[in-house]
Amino acid sequence: MYVILLGLPGAGKGTQAALLKDEIGLAHVTTGELFRENIRLGTDLGKQAQPYVESGRLVPDEITIGMLLDRISQPDVARGCMLDGFPRTLEQARALDEALAADGKRLDRAIYIRVATDELVRRLAGRWSCPQCGAVYHETNQPPKQPGICDNCGSQLYQREDDKPEAVRTRLEVNLKNLDPLLDYYRQQGKLCEADGEGEVEAVSRALRNCLEGER
Ligand code: AP5
Repeated sequence: MYVILLGLPGAGKGTQAALLKDEIGLAHVTTGELFRENIRLGTDLGKQAQPYVESGRLVPDEITIGMLLDRISQPDVARGCMLDGFPRTLEQARALDEALAADGKRLDRAIYIRVATDELVRRLAGRWSCPQCGAVYHETNQPPKQPGICDNCGSQLYQREDDKPEAVRTRLEVNLKNLDPLLDYYRQQGKLCEADGEGEVEAVSRALRNCLEGER
C-alpha cells in the first residue's frame, strides 16, 4: 500500500505517521527528515538543500524527486510506505505516479490533514524534535516525560531552525500556494480523503484510520 499524508507545516503528519507506522506496519518516509539527515552528515545533497530547508523554501524538484525515488526503490519500502512531505508540487506528484506505474504499482490514498493556520503557528512555536530517532514533542500538548530529553532514546531534544517565526511564515506561504493544485490532482483521481487535524492526537488518528479503511 502507498499512502501520502498531505498537510501544511505543523499539521501533524510526522506525529500521525509515527503512530500509524506501529499500528499498521507501513514504513514512514519523510523528505524533510531525509534532508535534515543529509544536512547533519554534510553530504553534497545536504549542502545543496540546506539554504532552502533552513529558510523554509521548497528544495528544487530536480533535487527532491531524485532523492525520494531513490529512497522508495530500497528493499525496506519496496512493498509500500507512507509518504510524509512528498509530493509538494504537481511535478513531484506526477513523477511519483510515473515511477510507481513503471514498477507496476500505484498510489492507494492521499490523506489531507486539515488544520487552521493559527493553530499551526502555535504548534510549530512549541515543537521540540529528537535529532536521533525523529520523535516529535510539543512543550504543552505532548511534553516529554523529562524536559528536553527524548522519551524513546534519551537524546537531547532541539528546536528546528525552520521553526523560527520568519521561516514558519515562509513555509506557510509556500505550502499554501501549492496545496490546492495538489488537492485537486488527487481529488480528480478519486484518491483524496480529508481528515480533521484539529482534535486530540488520538482523534486525528481515528480520522486517518477511517480514511485508510477499505484500502487494507
Ligand atoms: P518537513 O520536515 O516535511 O516540514 P513540514 O511539512 O513543514 O512539516 P512539519 O514536520 O513541520 O510538520 P508535521 O505536519 O510533520 O507536524 P508534526 O507532527 O511535527 O519539511 C522541512 C523542509 O524540507 C521544507 O520546508 C522544505 O524546505 C524541505 N522539503 C521537505 N519536503 C520537500 C518536498 N517534497 N519538496 C521540496 N522541499 C521539501 O507536529 C507539529 C507539532 O504539533 C508538534 O509539536 C506536535 O507535538 C504537535 N501536534 C501534532 N498533532 C497535534 C494535535 N493533534 N494536537 C496538538 N498538537 C499536535
